[in-house]
Amino acid sequence: MEHFISIDQLSKQEIFQLLEDAQMYQMKKMQISKQLFVANLFFEPSTRTKMSFTVAERRLGLEVLDFHAEASSLAKGETLYDTVKTFESIGANALVIRHEADQWIEELEHITIPIINAGAGTREHPTQGMLDLLTIYQEFNTFENLNIVIVGDIKHSRVANSNAHTLQRLGANVYLSAAPGYEDESLPFPYITIDEAVEFCHVVMMLRIQHERHVEKHDTKQYLEQFGLTKEREQRMLSKAIILHPAPVNRGVEMDSDLVECSRSRIFKQMNNGVFMRMAILTHVLQKWGIINENLVKE
Ligand code: CP
Repeated sequence: MEHFISIDQLSKQEIFQLLEDAQMYQMKKMQISKQLFVANLFFEPSTRTKMSFTVAERRLGLEVLDFHAEASSLAKGETLYDTVKTFESIGANALVIRHEADQWIEELEHITIPIINAGAGTREHPTQGMLDLLTIYQEFNTFENLNIVIVGDIKHSRVANSNAHTLQRLGANVYLSAAPGYEDESLPFPYITIDEAVEFCHVVMMLRIQHERHVEKHDTKQYLEQFGLTKEREQRMLSKAIILHPAPVNRGVEMDSDLVECSRSRIFKQMNNGVFMRMAILTHVLQKWGIINENLVKE
């Protein structure tokens, strides 16, 4: 059985089903009528993903096993595998894992309970990608022929990786925009400047500079004026265009602080959607693994 590691694993039909399920959770209170334990294992800092998984799990009636890496036996040298195997052994039914390493999933492929990827190094952040899809879908009701630009530190961003291919698969025209040194040659999409992007893109998806993944430190003093979303650039966006950002936002670096809550911004909507999309993903994974069946999800 497959762990939930990448949106690439999902068929188009499954993606649209998850978008529908998340919207159903937004409208109705649904619960799983079986005692199940889910452990949230975050080995890297997180506010949104960890907390929204916790809210999603509690809303579904799941028992949440919380974990604080700094207060765990990792401090005594226990490996990632042994830590995860411990949760499997004590009866966790599913695991939500974030880790700073790109390759952690390979170490855990023989774990026999489902793992949901809550962020893997610079590689994948599929639940963020899915909540971004939901936010775009609720705005435009389609992905076909939308012009979408992902702007920022593409090279170190797992969000860019998770989003670009999926958006293209769903019919969007995907562009990238990055300062010199922040491009990722492995992503086969055209690069444009932010000044070009604001003139024709329906979605402007901003990314944070991922300082924690940089070997060399870059000076960000001129970054906003040269490469970021200023108020002047926002004024030139299409009338219906929206701004996304996975957050946390470095206000005044990749975007003007005043734009974080402007009328085009869907940044806090993304966070709200994250809860419902994660409810849908948890249910999808538990069903795929045969841990619950449809009859166990009740209003
Ligand atoms: N967007 C996102 O993954 O935020 P956190 O790092 O706070 O979870």
